[in-house]
Amino acid sequence: MFFKKQIHWHKLFENEAAANNFVKKGGLNSMNIGNKKICIANTSEGFFAIQDKCPHNGASLSRGHCTNENSVVCPVHRYHFDLKTGRAKSGGGDCADTYPIEIREDGVYIGLTETIWKLF
Ligand code: FES
Repeated sequence: MFFKKQIHWHKLFENEAAANNFVKKGGLNSMNIGNKKICIANTSEGFFAIQDKCPHNGASLSRGHCTNENSVVCPVHRYHFDLKTGRAKSGGGDCADTYPIEIREDGVYIGLTETIWKLF
């Protein structure tokens, strides 16, 4: 009996142009995927996904802004969260969940981790 983590890939957009329409370069937007609200960032290094709920006090990170250092800035207390790791770069020691994004031939995908329980 053990727990196993598994990534499930969800198609977000038909292509990169649709993703760029949804999130302008340098901007943020949010979307619901299953029971998660995700903040999508479009930076000079590409697309990133981070939980929308700020780990400090629950504000919507997608209402904040991106920095040139690949961070999202919370609109409430202005903590900076690294879009690659989710770690707070300023403020407290909070950490947000991040999710991989892949641009494939047939669309733009996000990977959500699920923990499953297996007997054997
Ligand atoms: S609610 Fe986001 S930094 Fe406080």
